[in-house]
Amino acid sequence: MVQSVPLWEQPLLRLAAGDTLRPGGFTITDRAADFVGLAPGWPVLDVGSGLGATVERLRARYGAMAHGVEPSWTQLKRGRGTGQVQAWGDDLPFLSSSFRALFCECVLSLFPDAEQGLAEFNRVLQPGAFLLLSDLCGHGDPAGGTSCAVRALPRAQTEAIVEAAGFRLLLVEDHSRLLHQLAARLLFAGGEEQACNCGQPQLGYYLLVGQKKEE
Ligand SMILES: C[S@@+](CC[C@H](N)C(=O)[O-])C[C@H]1O[C@@H](n2cnc3c(N)ncnc32)[C@H](O)[C@@H]1O
Repeated sequence: MVQSVPLWEQPLLRLAAGDTLRPGGFTITDRAADFVGLAPGWPVLDVGSGLGATVERLRARYGAMAHGVEPSWTQLKRGRGTGQVQAWGDDLPFLSSSFRALFCECVLSLFPDAEQGLAEFNRVLQPGAFLLLSDLCGHGDPAGGTSCAVRALPRAQTEAIVEAAGFRLLLVEDHSRLLHQLAARLLFAGGEEQACNCGQPQLGYYLLVGQKKEE
């Protein structure tokens, strides 16, 4: 069986979105970082860090001790190379309570088991630390393939599993406009099919900020 190349590894997405392989570039990253008051020296992890753009941003703009994990060698080889290691997000190679904030941008819907992933995030975060989650939301059909657009969970379901994993919800914001902008950019870059997938009316895009409950 021929496996299709996922959108985030296609040159088209880089053409449309640059090195941030998600809607909105750094808009939501900065919104989240500013909301929690991300400060110099904070140990921060970016899960599914792709080309490493967020790791670099968090270091340069916020002075964070930022690192990323990314399972794909293709992404790691294409990326910036600073502060990223090869690992899956639901099996993190870090000690418990290592981080003060964890970013997960357009990645959770790709996990085989989102609950297991969130339990792992909880493990590596310090009590009171922040989960900064942005992703597509939709109907969620994990059997339907590997793309975020098909697998995206309903937002209410994500909120429920985040809370069940031991986080208090501090902020949930709709940013679907940024997804529609990305669809338009994909179309302009020549990706009609990819633009249609991203631009489906039932799809949205959100930012969620959670805080790990104190023990
Ligand atoms: C849409 S891209 C987003 C990359 C990056 N977060 C960004 O916004 O630029 C999705 C990334 O998640 C990674 N990924 C897929 N499944 C994963 C998993 N189970 N754990 C961690 N990363 C995963 C992919 O390799 C890919 O780099």
